[in-house]
Amino acid sequence: MTLNNQFVDRGKVGNTPALTTRADETFMDYISDMRNFLMHAPYKRVTELSEETLRRTKTRNDQWPKCADPVRDALSTEPEVATWLRAKRTLQEAYWARIMDSYNQRGGTLKQKLDAADKSGPGSVKWDPNFPMPEYATVDIHIQPGGYVNEDLGGFYYDYGTKVFFGGVNDGDARHTKMAEKTALPKDGNVSRTLDLGTGIGQLPVAIKRLFPKADVWAIDIGAPMVRYAHLRAMEQGVDVNFVQMASEKLDFPSGHFDLVTAHLLFHEIPLPIIEATVREAFRVLRPGGTFVIWDFASVDPGKNPYAGFARTLDAADNGEPYSVEFVNCNIEKLGEQTGFKLRYAAEEDIARHGRVLDKPAA
Ligand SMILES: C[S@@+](CC[C@H](N)C(=O)[O-])C[C@H]1O[C@@H](n2cnc3c(N)ncnc32)[C@H](O)[C@@H]1O
Repeated sequence: MTLNNQFVDRGKVGNTPALTTRADETFMDYISDMRNFLMHAPYKRVTELSEETLRRTKTRNDQWPKCADPVRDALSTEPEVATWLRAKRTLQEAYWARIMDSYNQRGGTLKQKLDAADKSGPGSVKWDPNFPMPEYATVDIHIQPGGYVNEDLGGFYYDYGTKVFFGGVNDGDARHTKMAEKTALPKDGNVSRTLDLGTGIGQLPVAIKRLFPKADVWAIDIGAPMVRYAHLRAMEQGVDVNFVQMASEKLDFPSGHFDLVTAHLLFHEIPLPIIEATVREAFRVLRPGGTFVIWDFASVDPGKNPYAGFARTLDAADNGEPYSVEFVNCNIEKLGEQTGFKLRYAAEEDIARHGRVLDKPAA
């Protein structure tokens, strides 16, 4: 006999739906702790060993390796580094597999929830089963099977995946909330309409709406699974945000419409021509005096720190981030200025947290 309701809903961890069984949760706690340990305790030592190994390679060949394969080959000669890289990758493969298995056990119920939320509020969602998906967006980014666009439950998987990825610091969306609270605003302080690009599961626009309850808050993402889940997640918190499946490089909004446009961790995941088109579109949809805030990886100057360049190349390959090298090399600040923005601020340190702030000049 098959039981239809064999799983008790185990509630939420912060705003993230709990995994289906206690055993799944325990397994993921172990992975999360291991990742936290791996990322922090031996990191300095691994960096030193990696730098030393790469320097030796350079001395032998009189050339720095240029792409991921020779970097990985060189680093695999150093057992501690090779073990560290392998363990990091294995943990990541293991966590996606377990998260997906776990949610899939009650996949039918979760899909029904998404279907019901499509037609409910507060807030709204618009998506198109025939959306013309560009090829670049179909990669399994972060080695998440199906990536952002190819799995109906991709939003659920991503939510739990980033919870583990952030190692606890974003539990309850704490990091997004802090970013929203600290975000730069248009200099005249007027925030009536906001737009978040590449919103993922919508944590940032929800935090922005809470800060500006009267504002009309919009958020777009190229993945239908992401906007559908983002809407469900916002709705369950009683927050009114409008989510739309849309490409950041081709925004279907009028010119001069928004006061504030934000993008958290979008830019390192899109190829250079799409980066350029997105900056142009952000400029177009902002009103004069409006502000664009970008939180993302710091730019890399390989002349200053060759290892930082190699580390990014290797992470791009190992973590399924095919475009991140193009981003860190593209000088987004300059690109913004060439597009017409005025750069207000770009933190030297910890740019992912503090962001780059670009103003559209007032008319
Ligand atoms: C790393 S996630 C960041 C999500 C979110 N901003 C956050 O704070 O967690 C990047 C998101 O960008 C979306 N994306 C990628 N290319 C896009 C594009 N061209 N237009 C809109 N969204 C895009 C992906 O689907 C994904 O949800």
